[in-house]
Amino acid sequence: MEIYIAADKQEGGAIAFDCLSHEITENGAETLGLATGSTPLSLYEKMVASDLDFSQMTSVNLDEYVGLNSDHPQSYHYFMNEHLFSKKPFKKSYVPDGSKPEKEATESYDAIIAAHPIDVQILGLGQNGHIAFNEPGTSFDSTTHKVSLTENTIQANKRFFADEKDVPREAYSMGIQSIMSAKTIILMAYGEQKSKAVKAMIEGPVTEELPASILQKHDHAIIIVDKAAAALLSDTVSFANK
Ligand code: GLP
Repeated sequence: MEIYIAADKQEGGAIAFDCLSHEITENGAETLGLATGSTPLSLYEKMVASDLDFSQMTSVNLDEYVGLNSDHPQSYHYFMNEHLFSKKPFKKSYVPDGSKPEKEATESYDAIIAAHPIDVQILGLGQNGHIAFNEPGTSFDSTTHKVSLTENTIQANKRFFADEKDVPREAYSMGIQSIMSAKTIILMAYGEQKSKAVKAMIEGPVTEELPASILQKHDHAIIIVDKAAAALLSDTVSFANK
């Protein structure tokens, strides 16, 4: 793992942007795996403000709530359009289709991932160590599947909905095997509420109980944390930029 420390999420977004642009301009990355949540927003702002042209590139998003159409304001489709695609269009952008039945939605998404191998995968981190919507206990061999969200995740995500009862209980999520097949992974985590998951991801055992711990086994995993998220790390953990 290549770990970077940032003062805050703005600086974290700038580091992530530099890593991403390097992969695009120096290493020919053509397909980006993209994430939702508040974490990648500072990166997306930098992408929008940059000279980089994504119009010949493909994006493949991690996940989507089951039952929400792409025009629903809380859908991840809508989120991506709002924050990135409407400002910096890709040649083609894929997000799982939350309006489709499970078999159709998951099998078609695996075919899309197979046709567009991911060069750089952007990730956030759940407070319980989840990546995408792969909750603790998800098999490291998983491909796209339907997920029942944990109470912890429903609580964390309710801030985006008018009422807790409106938070969908299920999602379609890219699996851990597909995430691990990306050539480069850039995971960002900001804030004190992520500090336990960050410590376990970097210093704990590799276990399906902490999905992000699998990144210890990836050949090119870049981890970007702010000071608050790094607060519990041991002194023995070294940072690539310090
Ligand atoms: C959701 C998403 C994840 C995201 C996580 C953290 O559960 N499915 O992809 O990483 O939330 O969200 P945030 O970045 O808002 O803390």
